[in-house]
Amino acid sequence: SVELNPVLLQLEWLLGTWESDEPGEGSFPSINPFRYTETLHFSHVGQPVINFMFNAFHATSKKPLHRECGFIRLQPGTNRVAFIIAQNSGLVEIEEGELTGQQLNLQSLALARTSFAKEPHVQQISRVFQLRPDGKLEQTVSMATDNQPLMQHLHITYHRSS
Ligand code: HEM
Repeated sequence: SVELNPVLLQLEWLLGTWESDEPGEGSFPSINPFRYTETLHFSHVGQPVINFMFNAFHATSKKPLHRECGFIRLQPGTNRVAFIIAQNSGLVEIEEGELTGQQLNLQSLALARTSFAKEPHVQQISRVFQLRPDGKLEQTVSMATDNQPLMQHLHITYHRSS
């Protein structure tokens, strides 16, 4: 296996595969609450970049739903982190924020979408990843749309599967 680029040492705890524990909870004022499962893969090829894929499924039907993939960069010598993300819904985003201990706090800096993306359009995203003391990883995602202010859409907990 390729040696980890030293720029990524602070994020080594994220690498690997994570599977949702209990199904995650999805909600928003304009939709019916739902449950989902999700697998996260974080890998590297020796570059100062983490590659990731997130694949989410309906909790009971197991139907594939949301998918995201992208890259994570750290500004060398700082705790500044950038996520570069493409979503299957036709949305692309840059999120930036800070790594504090084993918590990542991110805010969207730029969002763009296909000309025919479904409405309402997302206007802002914020998310938190946190490695808990019990070794579980937690992700919380909030969003603002054309119709709603910034509000929680997703909350889920994962255990490491490899
Ligand atoms: C609905 C965005 C991740 C499942 C929505 C809506 C938006 C949205 C804008 C429509 C809200 C409305 O009608 O007012 C996003 C963004 C995500 C994300 C930006 C990631 C950052 C996920 C994930 C799942 C999911 C991981 C897991 C399965 C759903 C479902 C609905 C929904 C089931 C309601 C039905 C539908 O409109 O398709 N999401 N979503 N979303 N989202 Fe997400």
